[in-house]
Amino acid sequence: MNFHILTLFPDMVMDGLNTSIIGRAVNAGLLSIEAVNIRDYAFNKHQSVDDYPYGGGAGMLMQAEPVYLAYKAVADKIASGQYGAGDHAAEGELPEKSAPGKRPRVVYLSPQGDVFDQKMAEELAQEEDLILLCGHYEGIDERVLEEIVTDYVSIGDYVLTGGELPAMVMVDAISRLVPGVLHNDVSAEFESFQDNLLEYPQYSRPEEWHGKKVPPVLLSGHHANIEKWRREQSILRTYERRPDLFEKCELTEKERKWLEEELRALN
Ligand code: ADE
Repeated sequence: MNFHILTLFPDMVMDGLNTSIIGRAVNAGLLSIEAVNIRDYAFNKHQSVDDYPYGGGAGMLMQAEPVYLAYKAVADKIASGQYGAGDHAAEGELPEKSAPGKRPRVVYLSPQGDVFDQKMAEELAQEEDLILLCGHYEGIDERVLEEIVTDYVSIGDYVLTGGELPAMVMVDAISRLVPGVLHNDVSAEFESFQDNLLEYPQYSRPEEWHGKKVPPVLLSGHHANIEKWRREQSILRTYERRPDLFEKCELTEKERKWLEEELRALN
């Protein structure tokens, strides 16, 4: 999978993503991440990319043309197969959105977008190429957004100074779903948000620490009992910590009864 991040701060993005698991996956050729500096597409001698908003108001806006040119450079390269993905498109033409050699999805990071979650990460992990557009200042001229953006995405209900951190969050969450990126494929399967349940608690050596013992079932070697205990702990944890998720998870009648009894015992 190829990520293309359009930004005014390419170093920030690349420094943050070139380490640890994601950096290793890039080195292994499972992912590619490029940061495209929008300033390289400035069309005036001062290399400025921002200007005052028409109608007045605070701050500066990123202008349409440099953003469009940066996008076009990436989209043309994708269409010509230079990233090893997609077929050739006719010269000077935007490829169709859903054909092979298709027009790539372009995510604009904005607090006005749909809120990013695990389901969206899973869906976006199916794409071969993903363009992430990071805004700064007071935002970007609406006209270029209308022309190139396919998805508006927020990482939560708070306002950041730019789209770089949200883009990095998305690249991290999506990359770990790309086959091969996590060495242990099971770890992407049994984790928080699977079936809308949070992950169960985990323990490692020693068996006793600060007077706290590892739950005995985990030392029993009885795999069916361990699985049952883990699922129950996931259910309890989700009920206690994320009632909003708990509403959406599907439990068997037996599990509901177990939870009722457990809560009664705890209170
Ligand atoms: N840009 C500024 N704040 C943001 C947020 N919460 N999510 C995505 N992009 C943003």
